[in-house]
Amino acid sequence: MTRRIFNFSAGPACLPESVLEEARENLLSLGTTGIGILEHSHRGKAFLAVHEEALALCRELAGIPADYDVLLLQGGASLQFSMVPMNLLPPGGTSDYLVTGVWSQKAVIEAQRVGRVHEVCSSADRNFCYIPAQARYSPAPAYAHFTSNNTIFGTQFATEPTPPAGVPLVCDASSDIFSRPLDIAKYGVIYAGAQKNLGPSGLTLVIIRKDLVAAGPKDLPTMLQYRTHAAENSLYNTPPTFGIYILGLMLKWIKAQGGLGAMARQNSERAGRLYAYLDQSRLFRATAEPGSRSLMNVTFVTGRSELDEQFLKEATKGGLDGLKGHRSVGGMRASLYNAFPTAGVDALIAALRDFESRHA
Ligand SMILES: Cc1ncc(COP(=O)(O)O)c(C=O)c1O
Repeated sequence: MTRRIFNFSAGPACLPESVLEEARENLLSLGTTGIGILEHSHRGKAFLAVHEEALALCRELAGIPADYDVLLLQGGASLQFSMVPMNLLPPGGTSDYLVTGVWSQKAVIEAQRVGRVHEVCSSADRNFCYIPAQARYSPAPAYAHFTSNNTIFGTQFATEPTPPAGVPLVCDASSDIFSRPLDIAKYGVIYAGAQKNLGPSGLTLVIIRKDLVAAGPKDLPTMLQYRTHAAENSLYNTPPTFGIYILGLMLKWIKAQGGLGAMARQNSERAGRLYAYLDQSRLFRATAEPGSRSLMNVTFVTGRSELDEQFLKEATKGGLDGLKGHRSVGGMRASLYNAFPTAGVDALIAALRDFESRHA
């Protein structure tokens, strides 16, 4: 087999080798069924067991209360940018958005197609390098939406924002879902594409309070109503069966590591080590402000684009892939999701030190 290298990609991202190996085994035959996981009917007993196990593990690991539905959908987080306002924003209502990066801006654009949007706060003034401390909510919003981790800009909410009492909090958690414990009861809706912390692309996890599902309009297209998927246990149409299978394996892997608390400790330790190096470096610096820094996506620059380019070239040669920052920030971005191996963080810090010793 070709040697595996360290994959710092922002998503789709690396998966644990044990998960990939188990999936490889089950490609030809899921257990003793004689039929591969990709080939099983979504209505058959074998797949339904996989489906139920993934849903049960989600509930167990995140402590999801009984008054929430767990939905496994398609269309990515980008479809949730539309489904959230279509289902939660009544005619004449206002939705509140905290704008902390490109993904929240995209969510705002989709909400504006449905109804009124009030911008609670924005960090656009300094290219989204911080999480705003102040928030001005509208008098009675239908919901308040935020992006818990800003994949592109390397910032993350340390704790949930607090909307006015009774206002459902809606979270795009695409790039930090299940990377730390969640107090689900604080949320109306949490949604995330699976392709960073939870598995492959093509699957979207939505955790939604049941009363919000019930209150949604009934005249939307069937597939765009949360009600449809809640009533049919996410099996209204053919679901992304392989993605759901891998989600189950990922959740079992997270459980075996010690659950979300263990993920949080691991993620904070290794991102902390990388930031500590960057903060004392004479060449590299983190782009996100202390206090707003992401434990999932660490963004950094040298300040000279030709040096950034040279570092990236050398890193790639040395088996550190996917470190190129998003074009709106430039420089480098190390994505350290749950499954990223700690040895890769050590290798990156060693490569940075070596480069610094030659170029600072
Ligand atoms: C925070 C965040 N939200 C939304 C998206 C878009 O997700 P999708 O491609 O699943 O639609 C991404 C993709 O990277 C993201 O990082």
